[in-house]
Amino acid sequence: MTKRIGILTGGGDAPGLNAVIRAVALTAIRRYGWEVVGIREGFDGLYAGLPTIPLTEERVRDLLARGGTILGAANRGNPFALRVEHDDGSIEVADVSHEALTRIEALGLDGLIVAGGDGTMSIAHKLVLMGAKIVGVPKTIDNDLNETDVTFGFDTAIRTATEALDKLQTTAESHHRVMVLEVMGRHAGWIALTSGVSGGADAILIPEIPFDIEVVCQKIRDLQASGRHYSLVVVAEGAAPVGGEQLYYIEGKNGSEGRLGGIGHQVGNMLSQCVDAEVRVTVLGHVQRGGQPTARDRWLASRFGAAGVHYVAQEKWGYMVALQGTQMVSVPMDTVINLKFVDPKGDMVQMALDMGIVFG
Ligand code: F6P
Repeated sequence: MTKRIGILTGGGDAPGLNAVIRAVALTAIRRYGWEVVGIREGFDGLYAGLPTIPLTEERVRDLLARGGTILGAANRGNPFALRVEHDDGSIEVADVSHEALTRIEALGLDGLIVAGGDGTMSIAHKLVLMGAKIVGVPKTIDNDLNETDVTFGFDTAIRTATEALDKLQTTAESHHRVMVLEVMGRHAGWIALTSGVSGGADAILIPEIPFDIEVVCQKIRDLQASGRHYSLVVVAEGAAPVGGEQLYYIEGKNGSEGRLGGIGHQVGNMLSQCVDAEVRVTVLGHVQRGGQPTARDRWLASRFGAAGVHYVAQEKWGYMVALQGTQMVSVPMDTVINLKFVDPKGDMVQMALDMGIVFG
């Protein structure tokens, strides 16, 4: 009997999502002879009953190199806590998870693949406990999902951040300036650490290591004393000073998550006070999430998508595909809900310290 499976992309987008969609469709069609439909706008497409997109071979052609997701993404859509804003401005939080389940049945889906981060996996896990047939594929540029060595989107993001540092370096050197680059990384500093080391940063500030700005100031003064009159500082958006709080430019309200941002400028202002050099701040923002995925991300996304289809065939409901070493493995979705952080005492931070990089 021909199976019919669905795929949705939850949370914020990441380069490589379209490559996952393509791999899911091609593997399901060619290897298993199944039909595949795309659910639009993440979980919103389920409970809101949005029309699906038939994912034929023709529809997924040319998707490999395209950033974003053709299915659309909704990174606030949670069927267990749907926020409905009324005309008078009041917010109602409703549980519409049963509508999501009913829609999966109405669509005649024999399995659903969800590509997403920790929030998406947590929602998917709860739906599985209610009887939904779901497998997960890990996605986030932040690379902070447990149990998988890496997520797709990360390689593209660090390429973008590293290129930004390369560009900042030449202008920093010309003007003898301190350049501060704020990168993404809400809870974990993987983008800042990896791009910082790869782009020759002198200081890297990450959420896992509360920073003392004086350590960064001293580093810059030491560089100046040694004859190097420019420096590069990378700051993850979720970094905070010792005893301080993460900075939000929009506070979360009524249970919604706030928007992080502003720490780059705060660090820039602090550095202007303590070093004798001009300081400039660049906030990289969503540039890191956009554009063509790297070859490595396309490869990883293709492996994840294909493995997700095999897990549907094996009825591994409640499991997520993960990369461990060189192998695709299945891990229970709920184990990735705890995030993967940079270990402040681990070998990666130590390697950077040994090369003279400071973490504040
Ligand atoms: O989770 C990925 C991420 O890029 C975070 O680093 C960042 O804080 C967040 O998404 C931004 O999300 P939004 O698109 O809602 O601004």
